[in-house]
Amino acid sequence: MSLASMRQILDEAAKGGYGVGAFNINNMEQIQAIMEAARETKSPVIIQASRGARGYTNDRFLYHLMIAATELYPEIPVALHQDHGNSPETCKSAVDMGFTSVMIDGSLEEDGKTPSSFEYNVRVTRKVVEIAHKRGATVEGELGCLGGIEDGHGAGADAMAYLTDPDQAVEFVELTGIDALAVAIGTSHGAYKFSRKPDSAILDMDRIIEIHRRLLKTYLVMHGSSSVPKELQDIINAYGGKLKPTWGVPIEEIQLGIRNGVRKINVDTDSRLAITGAIRKYMSEHPEGFDLRSYLTPAREAMKRVVAKRMVSFGQAGHAGDYDPIPLSVMAQRYSKGELKGE
Ligand code: G3H
Ligand code: 13P
Ligand code: ZN
Repeated sequence: MSLASMRQILDEAAKGGYGVGAFNINNMEQIQAIMEAARETKSPVIIQASRGARGYTNDRFLYHLMIAATELYPEIPVALHQDHGNSPETCKSAVDMGFTSVMIDGSLEEDGKTPSSFEYNVRVTRKVVEIAHKRGATVEGELGCLGGIEDGHGAGADAMAYLTDPDQAVEFVELTGIDALAVAIGTSHGAYKFSRKPDSAILDMDRIIEIHRRLLKTYLVMHGSSSVPKELQDIINAYGGKLKPTWGVPIEEIQLGIRNGVRKINVDTDSRLAITGAIRKYMSEHPEGFDLRSYLTPAREAMKRVVAKRMVSFGQAGHAGDYDPIPLSVMAQRYSKGELKGE
């Protein structure tokens, strides 16, 4: 089976009324954890790599690991997505390398920190749509900015400062022709999203409902959607870690989003927490150990457990066998005939 188009995965999710987790990866063990979770829960899935991940893995290693995943798990539709592309050049290099989907994050300038103008965002996003759709690849854009800069993509400390404007969202989708729209509703990347369990004052789910009401056919994307479970924080802290108390996005809020047009849910931090906790635990209990397989095996298993749970909660579980991936060449024809227009 070849890598699947993210657009096709999201089209199917929309038909079935479920969401699909997009899980970040940086190495082989993370890809294995996601594919095992997908097999166990029979889920289609999106695997995504940030620019940092592409640099860390080297594109060619990453690409061939993903091809190995399609060979070893032929029953799982899996898309390879560029997370937070900062420029048309980054997105083009991803498509050239075989990514089936790209995000152009034109809400920030190329530095990944400075909020950009609407005009700049439209210009770079349109350019990426032109490049990617010709090749059958999917495009995610972003309007509004996430908070936090702890991991290099965000507009600063205040996550409520640059929320997505629903009217502007309609204009943005019309002007760019994107397949999916990432929206800013108060979340941030990383572990420190909220200093208390979020309510509507700090997590604006009504905004998603409003955007969906106006853009029924555009797939919405929730970034910064790790739930940062207390039990994962506790494992890290029990074995020498020093995480400060923190809250993530509750699963019920994500499920409310899914009932209101959210089709892609980005999760990275929960995987990082699961892996780190398992490695800390092993190291602390086996101070004499030094075989990397002895700690990477439980780490991979811990990530698999958290990913499998998310797949069930998002509703993608059980849907891997619903369809066969359409080749990107066919998707390219559909885009050129205007068959895949959103709103
Ligand atoms: O967008 C945020 C993801 O968690 C990726 O983070 O740039 O550290 O790989 P990263
Ligand atoms: P988290 O940091 O909440 O996992 O968000 C990941 C993300 O949005 C990647 O684009
Ligand atoms: Zn993100």
